[in-house]
Amino acid sequence: MKDLNNKVAVVTGAGSGIGRALALALAKRGCRLAVSDVNESGLAETVDALKGTEVKSYHLDVSDRDAIYAHAAAVAKDFGQVNLVVNNAGVALSASVREMTDEDFKWVMDIDFWGVAHGTRAFLPHLIASGEGHVVNISSVFGLIGVPKQSAYNAAKFAVRGFTEALRQEMKLENQPVAVSCVHPGGIRTNIANAARMGKSENAAAQRKGFDKLAMTTPEKAAEIIVKGILRDESRILVGPDAWGIEAINRLLGAAYQPLVERFSRKNLYV
Ligand SMILES: NC(=O)c1ccc[n+]([C@@H]2O[C@H](COP(=O)([O-])OP(=O)(O)OC[C@H]3O[C@@H](n4cnc5c(N)ncnc54)[C@H](O)[C@@H]3O)[C@@H](O)[C@H]2O)c1
Repeated sequence: MKDLNNKVAVVTGAGSGIGRALALALAKRGCRLAVSDVNESGLAETVDALKGTEVKSYHLDVSDRDAIYAHAAAVAKDFGQVNLVVNNAGVALSASVREMTDEDFKWVMDIDFWGVAHGTRAFLPHLIASGEGHVVNISSVFGLIGVPKQSAYNAAKFAVRGFTEALRQEMKLENQPVAVSCVHPGGIRTNIANAARMGKSENAAAQRKGFDKLAMTTPEKAAEIIVKGILRDESRILVGPDAWGIEAINRLLGAAYQPLVERFSRKNLYV
């Protein structure tokens, strides 16, 4: 997709952070927007900020498979076509494998993995029918490396990456008119850490402070990078200098990256 003008773009989790900034950046390039979230007030603020753009907002819980399929049908009906789907809605959990509850593990997988998988599969027929489609799935740098206390998030984000990379190849092999990108943001200054669940022995305040210190990229900058990546049809969109660094370490060291992360975690996560 070389030009976003007049394209219909779907953004989940658009009531905050990267999703909101992406909706605004896509609107600036001429997209018509279908935005959704579980957070009604956040979503209303996004819609306000989109004044002058053709936009429709939807209440959508991406952990609800049937609701996603109904949403895809509703957007196709409301706009007459769908060109771009950004499966962005996500949550975080900080808890060790030993300590996390099944309920928290499932919560993360249902939103961060199944939300993306169902979002992709529900919209795919509409994207193919449009003749010019693009799936953008938001993984993380934690979809590239494993990190202590992030096993559930790692599992979801690695799964998003595998699923998305396989889909990209399938679309090419089948000559389908759908591009596919997987996005790996580094630390982005959003609400994600505040909304995160924590294991019961975690120091939530210290973790949130640590995140604020490490998150080096604004959501607006992240959105610009993602939009450029879409226009260049990048298979892997790295967002922020930390993402580039982590990807390089992973590529150069292979599994030997792990002692480096251990050293970092001993200082910062096991305090
Ligand atoms: N902020 C970061 O440092 C960072 C880094 C890597 C990846 N990401 C990913 O970026 C995406 C966006 O996160 P963000 O940083 O903008 O966080 P955020 O908390 O600011 O925004 C996430 C949005 O998703 C919504 N959401 C949560 N559960 C939902 C559900 N079940 N259904 C629909 N919407 C739901 C929230 O209400 C919120 O509006 C997530 O997938 C996240 O994992 C973020």
